[in-house]
Amino acid sequence: MHLQVDSVSKRFGHGSSSKLVLDRISFDLHSGEFVALVGSSGSGKSTLMRLIAGLDQPSAGSIRIDGQPVRRPGPDRGMVFQKYSLYPWLTAAQNVAFGMALQGRPRAEIRERTAFFLEVVGLADAARRLPRELSGGMQQRVAIARALAADPRVLLLDEPFGALDIQIRETMQEFLHRLWSQTGLAALLITHDLEEALLLADRVHILAPSPGRIVRTVTVDHDRGAMGQLRVSPAFLALREELACCLRSLEPATGR
Ligand SMILES: Nc1ncnc2c1ncn2[C@@H]1O[C@H](COP(=O)(O)OP(=O)(O)OP(=O)(O)O)[C@@H](O)[C@H]1O
Ligand SMILES: [Mg+2]
Repeated sequence: MHLQVDSVSKRFGHGSSSKLVLDRISFDLHSGEFVALVGSSGSGKSTLMRLIAGLDQPSAGSIRIDGQPVRRPGPDRGMVFQKYSLYPWLTAAQNVAFGMALQGRPRAEIRERTAFFLEVVGLADAARRLPRELSGGMQQRVAIARALAADPRVLLLDEPFGALDIQIRETMQEFLHRLWSQTGLAALLITHDLEEALLLADRVHILAPSPGRIVRTVTVDHDRGAMGQLRVSPAFLALREELACCLRSLEPATGR
């Protein structure tokens, strides 16, 4: 799988009241890679994710998967959003099964894959529970199981842990890293959390806001074996601080 985002711009509205939200964004993502884009609120992260998902079209530039332009949502892209996007009236298992049923898979296969992916995310015991009976972290794990069960080639994650408190977020980051390293999937993470991006991704693109554009790209090659130790290692903290400085310098003046 090769995702190519090539000089993508997005403008909303027309004429003098129009707004350029993304300005010539380019990057690549291959199978087995983990790429993150970090930017402040309003830098166009979700807009970019919607374009890659095929929910909207770029104003200029192109998005291709294995050379084919992305025109609509497809099963090759598994999405996980910030807000819990589970159907509240369906159980965890039914939520995981839903996408596979839409794909027209045989019922026995759906049952088997649902059980398998709930097990993968550690929620085999929660199969029959409704979303409201699950914690936020558990709901996001169901959303990840649902995305994985449809057998995507790239996992698109838009602030997947943004609504979780810090301890759960750290557990989920470790979980996502293990999952990704075991599956060999391509993963694209969009986040405003620099630490999260540096912990998880091989490559981190820094987005400047208004309009959203990539101003810096860092290749991260630290050993992620022990994420808890990595978080506090001097080299990691130094890189994080340097980039935090870069991000702060990009904030538009607020006039306050
Ligand atoms: N459909 C739309 N029509 C007009 N403007 C839009 C539309 N969608 C997004 N925008 C504008 O584009 C800009 C970027 O929004 P976007 O949601 O992509 O940012 P974000 O980086 O995801 O922010 P956050 O971190 O808060 O989620 C905002 O100024 C927003 O108002
Ligand atoms: Mg967003």
